Amino acid sequence: MANLDVNFCNVKFPSPLVLASGILGVTGGSFRHSVEKGCGGITTKSLWKERHPGHPNPTMFGNEHYLMNAVGIPDAGITKAVEELGEYLPTRKAPLIANIVGGHKDEFVAMAEALAELPSPPDIVELNISCPNVEDEFGKPFACDLISAADLTKLVRAKTDLPLAVKLSPNVDNIGEIAKAVEAAGADAICAINTVGPGMRWNIDLKAPMLSNGVGGVSGPAIFPIAVKAVYDIYKAVNIPIIATGGVNSGRDALEIMMAGGTLVGVGTAIYYHGDDFWKKATDEMSAWLDGEGIKNIEDIIGLFHKI
Ligand SMILES: Cc1cc2nc3c(=O)[nH]c(=O)nc-3n(C[C@H](O)[C@H](O)[C@H](O)COP(=O)(O)O)c2cc1C
Repeated sequence: MANLDVNFCNVKFPSPLVLASGILGVTGGSFRHSVEKGCGGITTKSLWKERHPGHPNPTMFGNEHYLMNAVGIPDAGITKAVEELGEYLPTRKAPLIANIVGGHKDEFVAMAEALAELPSPPDIVELNISCPNVEDEFGKPFACDLISAADLTKLVRAKTDLPLAVKLSPNVDNIGEIAKAVEAAGADAICAINTVGPGMRWNIDLKAPMLSNGVGGVSGPAIFPIAVKAVYDIYKAVNIPIIATGGVNSGRDALEIMMAGGTLVGVGTAIYYHGDDFWKKATDEMSAWLDGEGIKNIEDIIGLFHKI
């Protein structure tokens, strides 16, 4: 059987498949449950310093091709997050990536500092700079501007020794350059991609938008080609590892996006489609393919498409 262990920022993951931010990664119990079902690591939902209400319902609309969401990143704030992390981290069976968000730069810094001081800190901190609701002083997500993305990374880097991943947006025409700027500013890893769009759908009978927010980020199988291209471009641009995320819906998809350059593979919307049986099914599919090809270590396929 092929070895599925992956080394990511000197942290050992028992499988490259990790839960993406915002899907089930909410409580200590939900972190443990996903790991018991076979996922190789957890990313928490985005954590805010203060309580954050999010948007009113309806916040999600989906079909077999994509999911559109505008949850607005609801969160109970750092006190509750510390409680839930404290329930999981001291006895964790798989690594945890703490995804943090803030309305302005100081909030990101404060969150990173607070997490580093925990008795059992997370394995990696991930900056969500790519959510459409989180803007720099010019009204764009930090990840849509090379200088804003690099400045924020540099600020947080100065305040924590924990491995630092930065989550990028696909809604730019230069994701490779942004990844490079973030790497130069001190990031240890890149996560890509966040949701695409935003998109918009309407109910023609009610003459009303499907989401209370009017627009929402698009995820799921329809965005997979965009994610593969983003990961391919980032791999070419940087020397730090990538959490390849976006539309992965099977074990074969996971292998493909690793060959485009992903070291870890983030899985979000597929859990909405397949439930948590996804982890075992996808892992079995990956193992069978690797065995069929005679590949002993999954790490050997990372970036394979760049060698062709
Ligand atoms: C309902 C929902 C909530 C999400 N919440 C977050 C979040 O809190 N922070 C974040 O960085 N990304 C969030 N995302 C984006 C996902 O982590 C992921 O980047 C994106 O959905 C693409 O992957 P997927 O197609 O596998 O879902 C969310 C996505 C969905 C569908």
